[in-house]
Amino acid sequence: MLNLTTLLTQCFTLTCVMHFWRNWESSGRTIMIVYFSATGNTRFVAKTLAKLLEDEARDLCPRMRANDFSEMKCGKTLIVCSPVHVSGLPKFVADYLRRVSFLEVQEAYGILTDAGYSGIAGHELATILQGKGMRFKGFAEFMLPGIHITSITNRIIDTQEIERRIRTTSERLPDVARAIREGETLTGRRSLLPEVALTKALMPALRFVGLRTQKFWVGDQCISCGLCERVCPVVAITMRAGKPTWNMSHCAHCMACIHNCPKAAIEYGDVTRDKRRYTFAKYRYAAKDEA
Ligand SMILES: Cc1cc2nc3c(=O)[nH]c(=O)nc-3n(C[C@H](O)[C@H](O)[C@H](O)COP(=O)(O)O)c2cc1C
Ligand code: SF4
Ligand code: SF4
Repeated sequence: MLNLTTLLTQCFTLTCVMHFWRNWESSGRTIMIVYFSATGNTRFVAKTLAKLLEDEARDLCPRMRANDFSEMKCGKTLIVCSPVHVSGLPKFVADYLRRVSFLEVQEAYGILTDAGYSGIAGHELATILQGKGMRFKGFAEFMLPGIHITSITNRIIDTQEIERRIRTTSERLPDVARAIREGETLTGRRSLLPEVALTKALMPALRFVGLRTQKFWVGDQCISCGLCERVCPVVAITMRAGKPTWNMSHCAHCMACIHNCPKAAIEYGDVTRDKRRYTFAKYRYAAKDEA
């Protein structure tokens, strides 16, 4: 009898502790920032916002790699930060956002980084998050260096222009953080209905041309560090005999592998020869207030 009473008391205490922990964990947090970033542009924006809003920014890449769609405890406000790919959200980011549950979120903001044209990415983000019952309070767009070097239309910009884009972004971020803190709406460029309809209709063709599959290959400089494999959000790279091999039907063309390789050993057909590899980290000094 005594043992049963002790057992019940212990169960009750454990349940109370778990209940308290759950509530404390969520009530302590009012904002959650999540991001994907291939070369660090979006990471920089997400982390700077986190610093300004005194919260943390969570990288979605490990969850995407692990196919981890478990619930994320958030708090009242969710901020989703993503690059723009081919005039929209990267497909793998959109797919992930659709499948994962963000608990307790009432309102959401979007933060986009791009090379000058966000297309319908803001509209797509709004549709996905509203579909999850959140009030979408707009998005902000930041022009940063373009990283799509496998595209023949990719324009290589000079160092001064890279620095200018990073500086301008870092100067605008405090104002965006203030607006979010004060619950204001962000006024990113609105896509009109014809633009949305046309872009959606053309998206398969845009992706076919923009993400056309030539072959990634690796040169002799490769030191078998495995970094390219670890940064791939869709697990399209497997190391074999110390060298990366690509599953091109999985590849999402995010450009993380090619830019992050410490030896610039990765090429894509002939398109990337002599093109500058870029990571935000190399130009971090240009940010006004580094995160
Ligand atoms: C496959 C691909 C497609 C892209 N398409 C666009 C685009 O349509 N418009 C644009 O302005 N930038 C485009 N970009 C550039 C990225 O949006 C921009 O460089 C972004 O800041 C990269 O962020 P990240 O380093 O955090 O991934 C594209 C980049 C990639 C890799
Ligand atoms: S990141 Fe570069 S050096 Fe490292 S394994 Fe990949 S290709 Fe080789
Ligand atoms: S293999 Fe494709 S998806 Fe993976 S890191 Fe490289 S470009 Fe990105």
